[in-house]
This record gives sequence, structure tokens and C-alpha cells, in this order.
Amino acid sequence: SSNQMWGGRFAAGPDAIMEAINASIGYDQRMAAQDIAGSRAHAAMLAAQGIISDSDAKAIREGLLTVLSEIEGGTFEFSTALEDIHMNVEARLKEVIGEPAGRLHTGRSRNDQVATDFRLWVRDQLDAAEGALEALIKALLGQAEAGADWVMPGFTHLQTAQPVTWGHHMMAYVEMFGRDLSRVRDARKRMNESPLGAAALAGTGFPIDRHMTAEALGFDRPMANSLDAVSARDFAIEFLSVASISAMHLSRFAEELVIWSSAQFRFVTLSDRFSTGSSIMPQKKNPDAAELIRAKVGRIFGANVALMMVMKGLPLAYSKDMQEDKEQVFDAADNWMLALAAMEGMVKDMTANRASLEASASSGFSTATDLADWLVRETGLPFREAHHVTGALVALAEQKGCDLPDLSLSEMQAVKDTITEDIFNVLGVHNSVASRMSYGGTAPARVREQVARWKEVLA
Ligand code: ARG
Repeated sequence: SSNQMWGGRFAAGPDAIMEAINASIGYDQRMAAQDIAGSRAHAAMLAAQGIISDSDAKAIREGLLTVLSEIEGGTFEFSTALEDIHMNVEARLKEVIGEPAGRLHTGRSRNDQVATDFRLWVRDQLDAAEGALEALIKALLGQAEAGADWVMPGFTHLQTAQPVTWGHHMMAYVEMFGRDLSRVRDARKRMNESPLGAAALAGTGFPIDRHMTAEALGFDRPMANSLDAVSARDFAIEFLSVASISAMHLSRFAEELVIWSSAQFRFVTLSDRFSTGSSIMPQKKNPDAAELIRAKVGRIFGANVALMMVMKGLPLAYSKDMQEDKEQVFDAADNWMLALAAMEGMVKDMTANRASLEASASSGFSTATDLADWLVRETGLPFREAHHVTGALVALAEQKGCDLPDLSLSEMQAVKDTITEDIFNVLGVHNSVASRMSYGGTAPARVREQVARWKEVLA
């Protein structure tokens, strides 16, 4: 039998394979609430403009709520023959309210309908991401505040570089996730325009009021160009780009947690709630959540690239290719939200091992730069020479199998006679971090300032 929506032109129904490749109802049913909200706004506007009667609009709007409750209650029967969520909802509306249902699609097309639904769906995800990022930042602030003056090694090339504070390291991620947050807000602002009323592509001859539907759906304004309104998917790509950058940040932190929770590092202990055991090795406590966050970045980047590939080269306006936008965005959104929540949970629960952090910070000649700086400051040596002298002292300590503070004054003076007892004041890791008072530096006082600033920002 031919299609109930466009059967007028068709003598035969679709091949089963045609139906299989064409249908999106398997996944776009996730936009049911958005579809119904869009249709209800459209029906109210049609009546306000005198395009349909008030009683038809009332029947449509109430009928749509019945359909929504059926979907939410799990009693709705989705049909692949009806292709997508838009036609499934409308067909059911017809069963529920009869003839007025046929007036709903006046001055509208599935092209502006799907663009509207999808924008609403992505907007909800941006709002959810905003909340999740704020929660993660708060968890990091908790860690930073507790350990503002705990000393740990700072790395470059994953080799000991200079001592930093635990709070400083946590706050570095606060800055990164803070920029993700601002990208989320920017993206939301840019995408919050309504495609509804663009109709198929050219607009419509019916005297519709696009400002009214835009406002009803919480959009800032209608999109200015009807061709653009139904063709644009950059809002979805921007969502995936923002998600990708954020996932990249998550993966870096996840990688650090994997390394830090190892027996070789012992920087952190992850909670039992966010770890798993091994079926064979009884001693194991594995950082699976961190590993999965590290991995999920792959599918999120993949979705970003996939949708760019779908959209590249598409002529205006709508092409069915664009139906491939949703699964990518749904999957990326689900996994980004999951990763954000898991990271928040891990950060809240984890315990930094203060003693191991400090012991590790004190090894590996982490205060060699402080020694060189002392030579510059106290003896007037040019930095390049001071660097050379310090290198010789490091080599000596390495040869003796000790750390810099373990060298005696006379051993040091044998390398550089202007060195005095005072040098030992700068070789300790606490002195080292406390001295890094430059703006943005690792000194506990600086870290506490940043924690306070962020608390104010989030309040
Ligand atoms: N399911 C379709 C999609 O997701 C809805 C739009 C269909 N429009 C059309 N002209 N066939 O893109």
C-alpha cells in the first residue's frame, strides 16, 4: 500500500530495503518531546493568525499531549513504515483526534520541522553540558582548596621539571573546563534561532508569524533566511566540536589519573566506587572509568569528523544525507555526558596521597632551577653560567646517588666557591613553590586566590 502522507502521487509502497535505509524512527524517536513542543507552538500560531480555527488548534494541542504521554509511558507503537518521529506523531494524532490533525502541517515542512526539533534537542544537551561542566569544576575546586599547598612534581616530557602544588595542577584543569564551559555558552547563543516557518525551503504564502513560534520555543529570534534555516547543520557540528575539545581535556586528565593511580606513582587513590577489580589478580584495583573516559574521546572526535563529511559538498537546501546527523550527535552527547559525570565522581572521591606527592617532588633534582636562580640573585652570575654550574652539581649528586640538598656545603663550594650555607634555603620543595609568586604561578597563595576567584564566578 502506498504512503498515507504522499500516497496521492504513488501507486506502490516502498521496497523493504528502501524502508530500511530510509527510516530514522529507530533513533529520532529521542526527539519526540521536541517534535511535539514544536508542533504545539506551530498549531497555536496557526490559530492566532487565523489560518486554522481555534477549536482545531485546541484539539491538535491537546491531542499532541496525549501522544506525548503515550510515548513517555512506553505504550506508543513506533512504525518503521512511517519513517521518522514527525510522521509517527502526526499519524497517531490523526488516530486520536481525527480530521483536525490534517491541518497541523499547514505552512510547514518536515525540513523546518526536523531542523527545529534537532536544534531544541542539541540546545538541551548544551544546557546539560553546562551543568555537568560546572559540577566537575566544583569538584576540582574542592581538591584544589584541600591541597593548595601540597607539593607534587611538575612535569615536562613526563620527566620531573619543577615542584608545583596539587592545587595548582587541579586548577589547570579548572581553567580548561572553564573554557569548555564558555564554548558551550557561545555555541548555545549562536544556535538559538528558530528554523520553524522556513517550510520546505522558500518560506510560505500563509501569513505565519515566525516570531511567535520562535518565542514560544525559547529561541531568541527566527532564522533570517529560509534556505539557510533548513540547510544549516553547523550548529550540530559546533556542538560536536565543543564536545571534542572538552573530551580531549577529559582524556588528558583521565590519562594522568591512570598514571597517578599506579603502584609506581601512588599519587592518588581512586575510590572503590570508581574502580574495578580483576577476575584473576586479587590485588588489582583498576582505573577503568578513567580508561574509558580516555577512550571515549575517539568516538566523539569520530562523530565530529563524520558529520563534517556528511555535510561537505551538499548543495542547498535539504538533502536526505542530513538525516545522518542525528546518530552521531546522540552518541557523542551520551558519551560526553557520561564522561563528564564519571570524571566528576572520580575527582570528588579520589584521595591525593600527600606524602607520596611530596616525596616524589623532592626527588629528581626538581629544585635545580631554584639553585640556578639563587646563583643569579645572590652572586650575580649570568643565568647561562648559573645553569652550567647547577648542571655540574646535579651530575655530582647523580654520581653520588643523592639529591641536591644531600650534598655538603664544601662539596658544592668545590664546584662554585661563591656558594654559601644560604643555598640550602632554596633547595627544599616548599620554599620552591612558595617562591613562585608570579601571577598564575604555583605558590599556594596564588592558588588560593584562583580558587576564590572561581568560586565567585560560579556563585
Ligand atoms: N527524517 C528526516 C531527517 O531526519 C526528516 C526530514 C525529512 N525531509 C524530507 N524532505 N524528506 O532528516
